[in-house]
Amino acid sequence: MVRPIGILAGLGIVTAVLWSLLWGAVAYIQSPPMMSAEHYVQHNLQPKKDISFSFDGPFGTYDNRQLQRGFQVYKEVCSACHSMKLVAFRDLEQIGFSKPEVKAIAKGWAIETPTPNPDTGEVSTRKSLASDHFPLPFANDIAARAANNNAIPPDQSLIAKARDEGPHYIYRLITGYSAQPAELLKKYPDVKTPPGLHYNAYFPNLNLAMAPPLTADGQVSYSDGTKATVPQMAQDVSAFLMWAAEPKLSNRHRVGWAAFVFLLLFTGLTYMAYQSIWADKKHKSE
Ligand code: HEC
Repeated sequence: MVRPIGILAGLGIVTAVLWSLLWGAVAYIQSPPMMSAEHYVQHNLQPKKDISFSFDGPFGTYDNRQLQRGFQVYKEVCSACHSMKLVAFRDLEQIGFSKPEVKAIAKGWAIETPTPNPDTGEVSTRKSLASDHFPLPFANDIAARAANNNAIPPDQSLIAKARDEGPHYIYRLITGYSAQPAELLKKYPDVKTPPGLHYNAYFPNLNLAMAPPLTADGQVSYSDGTKATVPQMAQDVSAFLMWAAEPKLSNRHRVGWAAFVFLLLFTGLTYMAYQSIWADKKHKSE
């Protein structure tokens, strides 16, 4: 008696599973799951923006002239909103500025460095010195939010390392603003960019609080004769941000290769030593 009941119960369960599987399949065919709008844009609506940097690849090194141009873009455009608190003015000597140039850059920086009075603790500001870090554009996060539609512009010291494909991503983001494509709105009518935000196909959630920072050719004027087109400025500033995040990249590549060649030679030497040390023992056993 127990056996038939068991079989019946089993059949019941199998029927229930098959039934739900069938209806699941019907529902899948009738209304297939929609790709999210973000995915749709990533797969269909991101124009290709492939650029190459001098520091790409295992042999890459920084191009100081490009870094200096990028610094100029940071200074004249991005630094109004983005801090770079881990970088000191004197670090700029690494990208080819001379000591007096660095001093002048620090002294002329638009925002002065806050210093507490050693006796009273009262904070006043003074002109920056080469040893100071870049001063913050906003006194605190509340001020940063208030000025930027409730979003805090992230510190840029390490941003190139904090994002996938760092400088390539920054370049695409800066040059990636557009109106919302009609195709997207037709497919996803409720993903309209909210007021105060800006549509950008490269930003993970498609809308960000930063207005396009580089809008016109010639927004900065380069002293080395390079034409300051928007893509050029975007590429230069992306390279500069990469340097800020990884100043020792060129050195790391150089040392890496030296170590590689050394290890290769060392392997050869060790092998030869091994052969000569064991030479007579090997003969004996034969
Ligand atoms: C008017 C202020 C302003 C200026 C000028 C500005 N930004 Fe921004 N930026 C913002 C704000 C605000 C955010 C945060 C956006 C958000 O989270 O929605 C942001 C975010 C970013 C991000 C991070 C995006 C991410 O993946 O989270 C990068 C990179 C960036 N800005 C680069 C730049 C560069 C390069 C420049 C100069 C060419 C620049 N910004 C100039 C306000 C500014």
